Amino acid sequence: MRLDKYLADMGVGTRSEVKKLMKKGYVTVNDAVIKNGAFQVEPNVDMVIFNDIPVFYQEFVYYMMHKPENYVSSTRDDSLTVLDLMMEPYKGLFPCGRLDKDTTGLLLITNDGQLAHKLLSPNHHVEKEYLVHSDHPLTKEDMELFERGMTIDGNEEVKPAKIMETGDCEYHLIIKEGKYHQIKRMYQAVGNEVVKLKRLRMKNLVLDETLAPGEYRALSKEELDALKEFGC
Ligand code: URA
Repeated sequence: MRLDKYLADMGVGTRSEVKKLMKKGYVTVNDAVIKNGAFQVEPNVDMVIFNDIPVFYQEFVYYMMHKPENYVSSTRDDSLTVLDLMMEPYKGLFPCGRLDKDTTGLLLITNDGQLAHKLLSPNHHVEKEYLVHSDHPLTKEDMELFERGMTIDGNEEVKPAKIMETGDCEYHLIIKEGKYHQIKRMYQAVGNEVVKLKRLRMKNLVLDETLAPGEYRALSKEELDALKEFGC
């Protein structure tokens, strides 16, 4: 791989900024100063150092964020996006799936499109668990309807969910789809309203409650391995 691409991918700067820094002698490879951006390096075999700091190559990165309210889960918007909360320099980061602006909780942020595609594909039936606070209690019939599958907005089918009452107007709801405003529309369909919504889990990835809203951290190896495991 070209050295200027390596450094740009790892967030040292844009390709042209990197080239200028290289010309000034800021970059060494295996202890030799390299000024030519086209110089070939082998990621994680050659020792690349920028400004006295080793730069290791990571193709894909994975972060768990505790999404706060008032941030949009997209890469670009007129309002603040979840990426505005991040200091990471990596190119191509995006939130895996969408939470509404007023929804909080677990959001995976990565640059691994293949994994994101698998997690979001309806074929993989990935569970998403939410903590829902509603305006008033659901009836037994409402909960049975959620568990049987239902029609929302007159013609949209929603697959069976799992629901458990965990407090006063408080429920743990597990869905395997990600239709637009799905949970809010399910509650609306039974004459209720979601007043607070927080995602707690996606597949086997559980929100780290030590993260305050707006904070994020890299996934551990165990978390990542489990997340990548898909049966045949
Ligand atoms: N369902 C919703 O209605 N909103 C979300 O943010 C997620 C699921």
